[in-house]
Amino acid sequence: MKVFISGNIAESGIKILEQNDIDLIRWTSPRQISARELIDACQDVDALVSVGPNKIDSAFLNACKHLKVIALHSVGFDNVDVEAAKSLKIPIGNTPGVLSGATADTAFLLMLAVSRKAFYLHKKIINGLWENYEPTPELGIELNGKTLGIFGMGNIGLEMAKKSIGAYGMQVIYHNRHKNEAAERAIGAKYVSFEELIEQSDVISVHTALTSETKGKFNLDVFRKMKTQSIFINTARGGIHNENDLIKALDEKLIWGAGLDVTNPEPMDKNNPLLNMENVAVLPHIGSATQETRSEMANLVAKNIIAGLKGEELPHQV
Ligand code: DGY
Repeated sequence: MKVFISGNIAESGIKILEQNDIDLIRWTSPRQISARELIDACQDVDALVSVGPNKIDSAFLNACKHLKVIALHSVGFDNVDVEAAKSLKIPIGNTPGVLSGATADTAFLLMLAVSRKAFYLHKKIINGLWENYEPTPELGIELNGKTLGIFGMGNIGLEMAKKSIGAYGMQVIYHNRHKNEAAERAIGAKYVSFEELIEQSDVISVHTALTSETKGKFNLDVFRKMKTQSIFINTARGGIHNENDLIKALDEKLIWGAGLDVTNPEPMDKNNPLLNMENVAVLPHIGSATQETRSEMANLVAKNIIAGLKGEELPHQV
């Protein structure tokens, strides 16, 4: 069996695939593979490991109907036309669970960095602007006892909530399509409407999938209803907030700050005004980027591929 891998994954996953006598064809260029190149590369293989934002849309799927399985190296699957894959009977695997801790760490890191203007102040030192001690300028805000609003209480949202309760005794409210009773029992999180979430939270952390329902959900109207001292954190997908509206909201001080691990588009342009704002911290989509998590993701990818090639149910199927 032959498998095409459209980017670099951790060696542990590669080993599992090789030990199962799978021939690997690897995309080794640092450049993202194009849609045409991906179709061409998949003509002669039995399965695909999709790394990064490849579009697994109906054009791709119809040109690669022969694939026995597609394993995503991500938990998110907004790049996949799931209905088209279903109708062509191509199972799609993803990597939930293993990246929850690392991604929640990134959300927590951004929350803290924004609350103390850490990235901005770091840049000032680099630019030779560490000036004399003054007690009042550029003050941060504290998180102790504040209200954390989780938009999308799944595995990652729950981890973020646990960390914030442990570190700062934060009160946790959340909004989901359906109540998460396990989370309510585990940490005493309170379910609220979306309106209540945006009006009551001191920090809003986004942990939902990008869907037609959540696309552009955080827009100027929403930022206007948030507290003026609130922080907006997004480690899910850049498409969930409207970037121009976020810039406006920060400029007009409708909200206090923002921390983003995801932007729209990615990569973010180096001249984006968000990068020069005092109360903003931006990271280049590193949510799951730890050695431990990336190994576990690669292992899951390998297990999904092996199961799919055998015609078995995938350990984690979208
Ligand atoms: C995920 O797993 O969805 C991460 O955001 C990487 O895309």
